Amino acid sequence: MKCSINIKRRLGRRNEMIYGHFIEHFHRQIYGGVYDPGNPLSDEDGLRKDVLEAMRGIKVPVLRWPGGCFVSSYNWKKAVGPKRTPFFDKAWRVEDPNTFGTDEYVKMCRKIGCEPYICTNAGTGTAEEMSDWVEYCNLETEGEFAKWRIENGNPEPFSVKYWSIGNENYGGWEIGAKSAEEWGRLVLEAAKMIKHVDPTTELTAAALADLDWNINLLKHCGNRLDWISIHKYWDMIHETNACAGYEQVMAYTNDLETDINKVRGLLTAMGLEKQIKIAYDEWNLRGWYHPNAHTVKQGIRKEDYLYPRDKNDDNSLYTMADAVFSACFLNTCNRNCDLVGMANFAPIVNTRGCIYTHKDGIVLRSTYHVFDLYVNYLGEQILDVWEEDPKQMTVIDRLGEKTEIDELDVIATYREMEKLVAIAAVNKNAEATRQLELSIQGEFAGREYRICSVNGENVNSYNDIGSEQVKLVVEDWKPMPTPAAFELAPHSVNVIQIR
Ligand code: AHR
Repeated sequence: MKCSINIKRRLGRRNEMIYGHFIEHFHRQIYGGVYDPGNPLSDEDGLRKDVLEAMRGIKVPVLRWPGGCFVSSYNWKKAVGPKRTPFFDKAWRVEDPNTFGTDEYVKMCRKIGCEPYICTNAGTGTAEEMSDWVEYCNLETEGEFAKWRIENGNPEPFSVKYWSIGNENYGGWEIGAKSAEEWGRLVLEAAKMIKHVDPTTELTAAALADLDWNINLLKHCGNRLDWISIHKYWDMIHETNACAGYEQVMAYTNDLETDINKVRGLLTAMGLEKQIKIAYDEWNLRGWYHPNAHTVKQGIRKEDYLYPRDKNDDNSLYTMADAVFSACFLNTCNRNCDLVGMANFAPIVNTRGCIYTHKDGIVLRSTYHVFDLYVNYLGEQILDVWEEDPKQMTVIDRLGEKTEIDELDVIATYREMEKLVAIAAVNKNAEATRQLELSIQGEFAGREYRICSVNGENVNSYNDIGSEQVKLVVEDWKPMPTPAAFELAPHSVNVIQIR
């Protein structure tokens, strides 16, 4: 395929927060994941140093916490201060020791070097409790909650800028689910109280690509929101853990922009497209495996809803399919950088995350290397790309239907300071090498290039304890070929840097 790039034709500057992450009080994400007191690999605060190091390696810009479904019956006040009472988490039906709370979370964010992003309880919680949390985190000394933070050993405000009102309160599975009308009213009041506490906060609220829900939400409080949250898991396997194979996953890449376009249309129709950005604050190819989690079936046993969650820890599930898909999703966010301002990989640690922990170390799964490649080798300016004769390929989707998809997924970026062009080029074809020919206009004479690639032997390659089949490989700089044509290996995620 041929691509024309013009350095002057800029789609915009991507927000680094599209490489954001999410961590929830679920299974081994917090307890036994990043927070592992007593493990020799943990620091004085009980945080795994190897996990923090890996997070810094992909420059995590923002980390959403504590949920997810967990948050909709979470009482933040019971997880601060010297007395921590374990509570029964009714969302995930387990006891949470409450030893990891707001203070521990903010300290962890400081060690990672990322922005905290707190999702509040709009399930059983009230607008008052949500705004009390903002008082606790952000007021200097005024009121009882700022004084409580100081009493707990944190004299300086935490300055938490990003706050979400609720998580998926539209879904019947969520504790404290709301109707669209109720939701608009609650968000209005919560937004009012939060902004009264700290007008510098940036607020989002749970939403989805559904007209009625969003119209009610935006009609009631569009002028009080800075973001709108949408979530997406394409391979919905939370009841079965029957992961889609490579070809079926490639079919999902036809559905990367659907929700963004729906929300874009609605925001434009309501005249809010300049004020509100999309926070894609939970996304992952794979839905988390937690069968029977939300069922109220009489007499259900822990063998049916709790113990199966360990199967998320099977590293062989996370292959080049996850890497190639995730790269295509991140390309989509870059292409829509005028509207998508944040995206949070769900989650970052364990479950379907990019970092897997075990008592003696960590495994960097295939998706970790995609974040490493994108965060560290692409530019901040997104350039317009014109594709001549893009090739399609036929794949069989999850329903056994034939579907045509683009074989390559290409974005062009530019690093202003270094005068460096960096093209992310994904070859989705499982068997065939594909050629990408570039022509670059606009005061740029690239003299040499290098290819940085994430790949494995085959589509099912994965990383595990003591075995690394998927790697990020950076080639040496070479003189630019004439014509500027580059080979893209099968099932590969590549960044071609030209300087
Ligand atoms: O499967 C995990 C859940 O997915 C998160 O807790 C929730 O936000 C989403 O429905």
